[in-house]
Amino acid sequence: MPELSVAVFATDNDQRAVLQVLVDGTSVARTVCSNPTMPLAASDPAVRRTQTLAPDVVLVDISTDGITAALRAVELLHQELPNAALFAVGPMTQPQLIVSAMRAGVREYIERPTTTTDLLEAFVRLSATRRKPGRASSRGKVFTIVNAKGGSGSTTVAVNLALALQAAHQNTALIDLAPLGHCALHLNLKPAFTISDAVTNLHRLDSSLLDSFMVRHDHGLQLLAGPANPTAIDPSAADFARLFDTMVGLFHYIVVDASSRLDSATRLVSNLSEKILLIAHADVASLWSAGRVAQYLGESGSRDRFALVLNRYRKVAGFNEAETEAAIGAPVLWRIPNQYFAVSAAIDRGVPVMQQGTTEIARSISGLAEYLTKDDLDVKRTAWSLFKTV
Ligand SMILES: Nc1ncnc2c1ncn2[C@@H]1O[C@H](COP(=O)(O)OP(=O)(O)OP(=O)(O)O)[C@@H](O)[C@H]1O
Ligand SMILES: [Mg+2]
Repeated sequence: MPELSVAVFATDNDQRAVLQVLVDGTSVARTVCSNPTMPLAASDPAVRRTQTLAPDVVLVDISTDGITAALRAVELLHQELPNAALFAVGPMTQPQLIVSAMRAGVREYIERPTTTTDLLEAFVRLSATRRKPGRASSRGKVFTIVNAKGGSGSTTVAVNLALALQAAHQNTALIDLAPLGHCALHLNLKPAFTISDAVTNLHRLDSSLLDSFMVRHDHGLQLLAGPANPTAIDPSAADFARLFDTMVGLFHYIVVDASSRLDSATRLVSNLSEKILLIAHADVASLWSAGRVAQYLGESGSRDRFALVLNRYRKVAGFNEAETEAAIGAPVLWRIPNQYFAVSAAIDRGVPVMQQGTTEIARSISGLAEYLTKDDLDVKRTAWSLFKTV
């Protein structure tokens, strides 16, 4: 059942109908009322009716011929429904309008015409900030690993980082989001199920069913494997949102190997992540791609959580780290040494470097795990919940 309730205000009949379909299409929200006028005063029956419904979100359509009325309505609704989050759908071509809408109380300004994905991402962001302090400690953190360029080492980093987190903190899951899943191969596991099975059973997905879809590695790391066939049915971003909501309720740490998957699912998962680690090499093509990937994935609000991990790192003459960081807009968080023989032998044998005692690369990845969790003992764990819990 949809969980976020939404009140729509749109004077244009077609647009009102479209917004309702798009909201309901996210499958994490439901339109509870749809109003054909922009209210002028607190006594307006539409305002009263909306107050009775106490929606989580009020969505106001700003059409180019009704800007003043829509902004006045936003201000009024912001005052009269202080607990609702105000979203506006409007043109992006007028920066002053966006600023005015934000000042009037709009929390999310979404481009018009909008899409289900844009709305879904805004709903997810809203849930991410509505953390429940009492429950915070029971929600996990997501770290997403994504390649700047194919073959940069996303799977190697994700698999070994997950093993390091499991060794240090237990209760860790690895989710293979790549178009063709390689994590199982790296770990020498033979999964009977994949992420597609979890997604097609979302309506009845509880901890024991999810457990049966995952495969357990030595020492307890749980893998939700990726598709073994590139033509597998693609779950929607809404499906991923629900899957991750279940996962963060069950695990302390969730490492996602997105590898080279660059689509709305990776964007959504980036939005839910504590950190997004962009795996790049210190060469021009890789760093150029890193900038493009960060821009695309960060468009929906996760930009400040991106960090660069330079894999196969070695000192290169003329490579200026500060300039790189400035150009990409993300800090260099970690450098992983180049150990081709150790890494490729580990992949071939299905025994990741983290399991092979203290190589330089294992030490480096343990250090990364430690760094990513350094605040977790004394700082309240951040968490998000997409769905209201009672
Ligand atoms: N730190 C490293 N040192 C040396 N070689 C490495 C290192 N990390 C990864 N490699 C090599 O790079 C290759 C690709 O690694 P991996 O499969 O992890 O990359 P990927 O980015 O997940 O690839 P894909 O784009 O196919 O998903 C492997 O052959 C591996 O041996
Ligand atoms: Mg990979």
